Amino acid sequence: MAVPTTMRVMRIARHGGPDVLTKAEVPVPSLAAGEVLVRVSAVALNNTDLWTREGAYGRPGDPTALSGWRGPIEFPRIQGADVAGRVVSVGPGVDAGLVGRRVVVDPAIYDADGPDANPVGLMGSERDGGYAEYVTAPARQVHDMTDSPLADDQLAALPTAYGTALGMIERGRLWAGETVLVSGASGGVGLALVQIARARDARVLAISSGEKIASVRAAGAHDVVDRAKDVVEQVRAIAPDGIDVGLDVVAGDLVSEGLPLLRDGGRWVIAGALGGYRVDFDVRRLYLHNAQLIGSAMHTPAHFELLMDLARRGEIAPVIATTFPLHQAADAQEELARRQHVGKIVLVP
Ligand SMILES: NC(=O)c1ccc[n+]([C@@H]2O[C@H](COP(=O)([O-])OP(=O)(O)OC[C@H]3O[C@@H](n4cnc5c(N)ncnc54)[C@H](OP(=O)(O)O)[C@@H]3O)[C@@H](O)[C@H]2O)c1
Repeated sequence: MAVPTTMRVMRIARHGGPDVLTKAEVPVPSLAAGEVLVRVSAVALNNTDLWTREGAYGRPGDPTALSGWRGPIEFPRIQGADVAGRVVSVGPGVDAGLVGRRVVVDPAIYDADGPDANPVGLMGSERDGGYAEYVTAPARQVHDMTDSPLADDQLAALPTAYGTALGMIERGRLWAGETVLVSGASGGVGLALVQIARARDARVLAISSGEKIASVRAAGAHDVVDRAKDVVEQVRAIAPDGIDVGLDVVAGDLVSEGLPLLRDGGRWVIAGALGGYRVDFDVRRLYLHNAQLIGSAMHTPAHFELLMDLARRGEIAPVIATTFPLHQAADAQEELARRQHVGKIVLVP
């Protein structure tokens, strides 16, 4: 298929509310050596899209400064980390056999080569992303999913939410048969945690609220407690021997309340702070019990490979809350911010 010279995108030229997301017609990006051009078929939204647009990450020593997660954002910026699509052309040095393949892009920009590198940047933040008809990516970060049973919108749901979830589970060293507690379980990362932990034969306890509890149970949680009531009391009733791993995107008071639930040698992994990022806890609950508090940002290349294998085998099935056309990106972000959905919100160019 011939690639046009221009493409439609939704981009931001400054930080602000949903109105700073505007339509533009821009040149299709040219390819550097080692890159491929992907025609985007679906791009999933994440909270980082909202916070990057708002500049809500603060800076070390200045929590109110307008900033992306790694520092200042270069404008204009095309948002969108989570892309599924088809390779339409390849740059110098890339195997032409990739053309036509259905792919998922690993959106991380890593600090090093090798399987255990750390993400220090993200597509849609430190480089242009997938709120567009086309996007470029390094060929080594494009994963062939042509034979996966998942649909394109489900593939797009994988990188950030499932990558983060798998990163948490790997860093928390979750073993089969262990009991795990998942917070924010109806969200993008939370549902991924439930599904992957279940696929690992863990006993999955989840925290959710209201009508979303049924969806979390349907995604594979053995038990779901209601965060509108006393979470610790409910968990103690269900798991009187405690939990092995906490997989937490909420933090805040849940950390101080949840740490005493850990068994000896337990791990509490934090990847988000929806409930507050200032935490006050009793360190005796760590050192007297050989417990570990672990921070987790996204995934490593090795985690992403594991994730792609799970998706090729169809062992996970992302839940799609709703889809929007690309030009309604601002509406889609507002829908995400309302947090009434279960699963992932996806844009279709
Ligand atoms: N570290 C990383 O690499 C990384 C990567 C991706 C995301 N994250 C972070 O992980 C968090 C979750 O992301 P997501 O995309 O899964 O979010 P999401 O889709 O918006 O879902 C979050 C869920 O958490 C629950 N929740 C919301 N506010 C809460 C509160 N104040 N207290 C307790 N529970 C609350 C809600 O579920 P219920 O109503 O059912 O409880 C909601 O559905 C965000 O903070 C995000 O920034 C981190």
